[in-house]
Amino acid sequence: MAEVVTTLNIGPLELGRAGIKSDTLSGEVAVVTGGASNIGLGYARSIAAAGGNVVIADLNDVAGIEVQRVINEENGRDCALFVKTDITEEADVKNLAKEAFAKFGKVDILINNAMNMRLNGTILEAPIGDLDRSYAISGRGVALAIKAFVPAMIERKHGTVTYSSTQFHYMPPMIGRGVYCAGKAAATSVTMSVANEVAGTGVNVFCLCPAGVMRFDPSKMPPPAPGKEGDPPPPDISEMAAMFTTPEQNGAAMIYCLERAEKLHGSGVLHIDVFTAMGNPFAPPRPEGAPPEPVGETPRRLTDQELTMVFCYMGAGFAD
Ligand SMILES: NC(=O)c1ccc[n+]([C@@H]2O[C@H](COP(=O)([O-])OP(=O)(O)OC[C@H]3O[C@@H](n4cnc5c(N)ncnc54)[C@H](O)[C@@H]3O)[C@@H](O)[C@H]2O)c1
Repeated sequence: MAEVVTTLNIGPLELGRAGIKSDTLSGEVAVVTGGASNIGLGYARSIAAAGGNVVIADLNDVAGIEVQRVINEENGRDCALFVKTDITEEADVKNLAKEAFAKFGKVDILINNAMNMRLNGTILEAPIGDLDRSYAISGRGVALAIKAFVPAMIERKHGTVTYSSTQFHYMPPMIGRGVYCAGKAAATSVTMSVANEVAGTGVNVFCLCPAGVMRFDPSKMPPPAPGKEGDPPPPDISEMAAMFTTPEQNGAAMIYCLERAEKLHGSGVLHIDVFTAMGNPFAPPRPEGAPPEPVGETPRRLTDQELTMVFCYMGAGFAD
């Protein structure tokens, strides 16, 4: 692969470490919404490195154009197309489909991933417009993209749709306050409803829940604020960095799931179960004498009950 000079915040791809071959998605065409940064960028680069073609749909045209250039250069072929798209606008999504079909002739994979992570206030305090926008990107945007690409997949009896879901419950102080969670819940509901609607057509639909994905550079973190006497020591930034997974690792996990889409149809999987199924290729070396990591063949499908608990958790007050 060519050395690529880029202003994007990217790291080396991880398909090789995960045992994924460079022709796994050969001939397949994928659309990745929100593909100009972080997780979506990891998905888009991994799809191309696995032999596929990729259409990046994102609001951010500065990053999007650079993503197209980098992916084409990394792979030494004309395999990436950026289309500036606001996924909430029907005309934009129609244009996205037009451009994707004009360039590649078909779309086999739709990865709904776009979200504005700043729409993250509490229901009580955030302006109602934030909730409208959260629903627009998540619920409406996901439905518009499905309407634009799935009918042709059904006709060809071949296709995969997936969604970057998340846990729905409010988890202070992490991401995931009410406005964000409500939007994610809407999109997951749209996705799982479509899974039922297309059952038996040759189109497979599943949700993949990533977590803690970002490029974490300890050297760029501000120094911890000085504590008072008796305070516990500040967390070790490098240790915190180890808790995060990278967009490239999640890209490898996505390819692994796409290969197994038929088995995952109608369900949700957690990134941690995907890594386990892959044989934990990104885990730090095990200490001597420690039992081996558990390994599976297919990422564990969440049961309906777990899906409800993970994604529609009602909070401790409803536990009994
Ligand atoms: N980062 C995590 O740890 C994590 C965990 C669970 C789920 N997720 C989900 O994964 C997805 C990606 O997360 P991320 O951390 O990479 O987010 P990010 O903010 O880095 O990237 C989101 C991308 O979506 C684009 N976007 C926003 N609004 C858009 C619109 N209307 N139309 C088209 N593009 C639009 C942005 O420009 C950006 O490039 C999100 O759906 C998020 O909810 C992330």
